Amino acid sequence: MRIQVNARNRGYDFEALPGEKVLYAGLRAGIDLPYECSTGTCGTCKAKLLSGRVRDGWSEAPGKRFVKPALGEFLMCQCVAEETLTLEVSKFVYPMETGACVPQRSTATVRQPRALTHDVTGFALEFDQPRDFDAGQFALLAPQGIAGYRAYSMCNFGRAVRALEFIAKRKPGGGFSEWLFGGKRDGERLETFGPLGKATFDPALGKNVLLIAGGSGIAGMMSILARAAQARYFERHRGWLFFGVRTMRDAFFLHELSAHAPNVDVTVALSDEDVPVNAKQEWPRLCFERGLVHDVAKRAMAGRYQEVRAYVAGPPPAVDAAIRMLLLEAKLTTDNIRYDKYS
Ligand SMILES: Cc1cc2nc3c(=O)[nH]c(=O)nc-3n(C[C@H](O)[C@H](O)[C@H](O)COP(=O)(O)OP(=O)(O)OC[C@H]3O[C@@H](n4cnc5c(N)ncnc54)[C@H](O)[C@@H]3O)c2cc1C
Ligand code: FES
Repeated sequence: MRIQVNARNRGYDFEALPGEKVLYAGLRAGIDLPYECSTGTCGTCKAKLLSGRVRDGWSEAPGKRFVKPALGEFLMCQCVAEETLTLEVSKFVYPMETGACVPQRSTATVRQPRALTHDVTGFALEFDQPRDFDAGQFALLAPQGIAGYRAYSMCNFGRAVRALEFIAKRKPGGGFSEWLFGGKRDGERLETFGPLGKATFDPALGKNVLLIAGGSGIAGMMSILARAAQARYFERHRGWLFFGVRTMRDAFFLHELSAHAPNVDVTVALSDEDVPVNAKQEWPRLCFERGLVHDVAKRAMAGRYQEVRAYVAGPPPAVDAAIRMLLLEAKLTTDNIRYDKYS
């Protein structure tokens, strides 16, 4: 199906496969259409229909509160073209840069799901073909029988890799959560689309790096740390990581974080309990503080924001609080705050 997009700066046209969402078809064609969550919650992919007809794949999508259907507005990440379309996007849209990791559809096999805590599972996806992605990106996953895609951030980093590593926090009653936690999934196939996401790190950045993760938001930070370690980035620049969890029972990746800790200051922020007396003995390379992760980061980072790029990920309230702090306290500019809301 042919789709014409009129953006503020220029027009694009591309072809969508049968049943393919408008956003994914455009991204697959190398056109950097606007999106954030890519899964129906944020409203960033809003477009206006000038001609043609779309089918809405998820009429209750939370992101629909940002669209006015009476004006022909719809979410590109949830709608499929039923005939040739002409759309208007009220943003500047550019082609992806040369060398960008252009997202594509593929299938992958689930490997080695393993419990990291009482409600977080790690797993790998093995692809038939090698895959490229940038540190900090995510992929969309769709097991059979579950409506829609779910976004999960890669924890590892590599170029031309066959295995991508993920973590998933269990959401009681959630479609993907119940699928992953509710059965033996090793060896099962699922559909994927990616890589996606703009909260990416490249060593050419040349700035100090502040990472703030709420819970499962640590996923993309692990990828950034892996990329930075490969380039020995923190021998030339400062690095700080703040990892917020409720209690020590919810903390994971502490071995991996300890391995990064000689070069990066790692602080685990416990929101719901005092720091246990043995925490420092057990993890001598890590710091532990009581408090919400953005407050802990604010206290520790005061006066250290020169030449800093911040990355934030996790549940939306934690991300919003951290962004507020980075804008108001740290006075970082918006281009130096990259984030993913795990909505
Ligand atoms: C950029 C990004 C990165 C993320 N990375 C991680 C991560 O690394 N680890 C992690 O644990 N979580 C991550 N999340 C959250 C994750 O995508 C899921 O929302 C969460 O795991 C709950 O999924 P669920 O299927 O269990 O819950 P559900 O409540 O079933 O679904 C949650 C999400 O799935 C989509 N969805 C639900 N129903 C439909 C439908 N009928 N049609 C279409 N879409 C539907 C929506 O986006 C909804 O918000 C990320 C989210 C985003 C946006
Ligand atoms: S990108 Fe479509 S709603 Fe978030």
